[in-house]
Amino acid sequence: MKGSNSFLVAFALLGFACSLASAFDPDPLQDFCVALKDTENGVFVNGKFCKDPKLAVADDFFFSGLNKPGNTSNLVGSNVTTVNVDQIPGLNTLGISLARLDFAPYGGLNPPHIHPRGTEILVVVEGTLYVGFVTSNPDNRLFTKILNPGDVFVFPIGLIHFQFNIGQTNAVAFAGLSSQNAGVITIANAVFGSNPPINPDVLTKAFQLDKNVVTYLQSRFWSD
Ligand SMILES: *[C@@H]1O[C@H](CO)[C@@H](O)[C@H](O)[C@H]1NC(C)=O
Ligand SMILES: *[C@@H]1O[C@H](CO)[C@@H](O)[C@H](O)[C@H]1NC(C)=O
Repeated sequence: MKGSNSFLVAFALLGFACSLASAFDPDPLQDFCVALKDTENGVFVNGKFCKDPKLAVADDFFFSGLNKPGNTSNLVGSNVTTVNVDQIPGLNTLGISLARLDFAPYGGLNPPHIHPRGTEILVVVEGTLYVGFVTSNPDNRLFTKILNPGDVFVFPIGLIHFQFNIGQTNAVAFAGLSSQNAGVITIANAVFGSNPPINPDVLTKAFQLDKNVVTYLQSRFWSD
């Protein structure tokens, strides 16, 4: 009896811990909280102001155009079209968003990056992608997979990950993210393209590079 009680307590505590651990976006306290754009009066909240629910309309929950490919004629050969709370104000407080990813034929790359606020689940609908993520220190284990249409892969929150087109055609994928605004940190851009630049001595030591290589990298154009 005593044993089963402590099992129940442990189970309840675990449930509580899980609910804390997953509470990155606030849980809604009403059916919805359609984001309002005008925040002129300068009060910042963790999320957005919401519209009077009586004034909400279907278009607050709607987006159109995800059938259109993004333009991949850029340095990395990929393009991410995000559909988050900025495109659909009705996503405010709901903890979910979406993206379309387009990749140019062989070599289109979504470079190593992190979503600080969301786990990503990706489904390939066209082409072949080599994808992967790396676990945190000290192991830094690499998990990779080659994905074809219909294949799904998960990138856990906060871990460095990438997608690379290894097929001879365009590749297209869609991704769900567990945040209304998962955020993106592209590693190379943040490190070598910060504004203002990081002292090159820091990067020379951190990346075990020649200082000339660091200053060269810092002089490159890092587009997101
Ligand atoms: C992504 O595609 C859109 C639509 O074609 C385009 O406006 C945008 O400039 C592209 N972004 C990049 C980084 O190439
Ligand atoms: C894609 O972007 C490139 C470079 O900015 C531009 O030259 C080209 O016209 C764009 N293509 C489309 C279909 O918009």
